[in-house]
Amino acid sequence: MALNLLVSLFSILISTIFPQPRALQYSQHDRFAFGPNLIHSIITPTSSPTSSTSISPPQPSSLAPALFIIGDSSVDCGTNNFLVTMARADHLPYGRDFDTHRPTGRFCNGRIPVDYLGNVALRLGLPFVPSYLGQNGNVEDMIHGVNYASAGAGIIFTSGSELGQHISLLEQIQQFTDTYQQFILSMGEHRAADLISNSVFYLSIGINDYIHYYLRNVSNVQNLYLPWSFNQFLASTIWQQIKNLYDLNVRKLVVMGLAPIGCAPHYLWQYRSENGECIESINDMVREFNFLMRYMIEELGEELPDSNIIFCDMFEGSMDIIKNHENYGFNDTTAACCGLGEYRGWILCLSSQMACSNASTYIWWDQFHPTDAVNAILADNVWNGLHTKMCYPMNLKEMVLLKEN
Ligand SMILES: *[C@@H]1O[C@H](CO)[C@@H](O)[C@H](O)[C@H]1NC(C)=O
Ligand SMILES: *[C@@H]1O[C@H](CO)[C@@H](O)[C@H](O)[C@H]1NC(C)=O
Ligand SMILES: *[C@@H]1O[C@H](CO)[C@@H](O)[C@H](O)[C@H]1NC(C)=O
Repeated sequence: MALNLLVSLFSILISTIFPQPRALQYSQHDRFAFGPNLIHSIITPTSSPTSSTSISPPQPSSLAPALFIIGDSSVDCGTNNFLVTMARADHLPYGRDFDTHRPTGRFCNGRIPVDYLGNVALRLGLPFVPSYLGQNGNVEDMIHGVNYASAGAGIIFTSGSELGQHISLLEQIQQFTDTYQQFILSMGEHRAADLISNSVFYLSIGINDYIHYYLRNVSNVQNLYLPWSFNQFLASTIWQQIKNLYDLNVRKLVVMGLAPIGCAPHYLWQYRSENGECIESINDMVREFNFLMRYMIEELGEELPDSNIIFCDMFEGSMDIIKNHENYGFNDTTAACCGLGEYRGWILCLSSQMACSNASTYIWWDQFHPTDAVNAILADNVWNGLHTKMCYPMNLKEMVLLKEN
């Protein structure tokens, strides 16, 4: 076991110091605005519908033309594979229960919630959405959406930076702006605006501002801000960024609240939870943040004409699963499937030897992230409140079925 751990640590170190060749693509993506595809788009008039045959239309059964994702490790689908960071999920056992049974960069044994919303026939009915750094910059690759999420990212620029590189919230929105400009050049302003305003945006970020900033007392933040004013600071930043997205024609937005990380194996280990009780001081902060966000999203929805913004409370949805775990078929609510130490919450999941044999009865996959089984239930709730009501003022299904004004 100790040897395996050493080998894993060593391989992480190696991949961190000498990122795989694909990481070279990062610099190409940085400047792909000047790449051959864009130049091709500029010199080839593609704004009339007849000449844009290379762009596949939405699948007949899909309820939205595309799904765009901004966030952190809760929805990262491979961004961090291209970065120099400790926060990576590009090795087994990550992905072992995914469709391909291969690691993809998702921080889960299987699917993440956006997979269960996007890639399900009777839901959005879209193909898997590529990560921004994992596609080649062709408009055809991005036409069904792009995932910009990066593990370790927070609302505050420096949150998570002790892990290494990540793409921050602001940079992710900048990358989306670049995508949008490519759409405009390729299909014309009108069709690009149409595509964006009919697409679903999924925003899932903020937990790292607690895990890697507030709770670590970075820059003496705990003395300078009470939790309540820290929450207000985060919420007002999100408010501004949503307005920026609105100015880019985003109209259908799902804002995810934060999960009860006071129940995550890492904090059960760190705070020496005796019988697996959640750390209430942490959960209280998360609960307050979600409360504030729900109120703010309601206000924003009224302020921004023609917008459809919903807030989904991950805390409520997750606590329902923890409380009623037996009904859902979970019998371990406190320990991670993969990791080392008490609750397997001390050392992160580095190798298959650290993992349980079957994650399907576990709530937690690693020290911070839920299992595929939990993600499926949460996605059910976001879609139509199947198990418990989580989204306000409506579920995602109602939102995408709304008639356009
Ligand atoms: C936060 O850090 C500062 C020094 O950087 C320290 O004085 C303070 O006691 C810390 N607060 C808590 C609650 O640990
Ligand atoms: C949970 O259920 C599985 C499958 O029924 C079983 O193998 C396992 O021992 C159980 N674990 C606990 C902690 O009860
Ligand atoms: C895990 O256990 C569940 C039932 O507890 C079973 O349905 C499933 O097939 C098992 N998965 C694997 C990979 O063994």
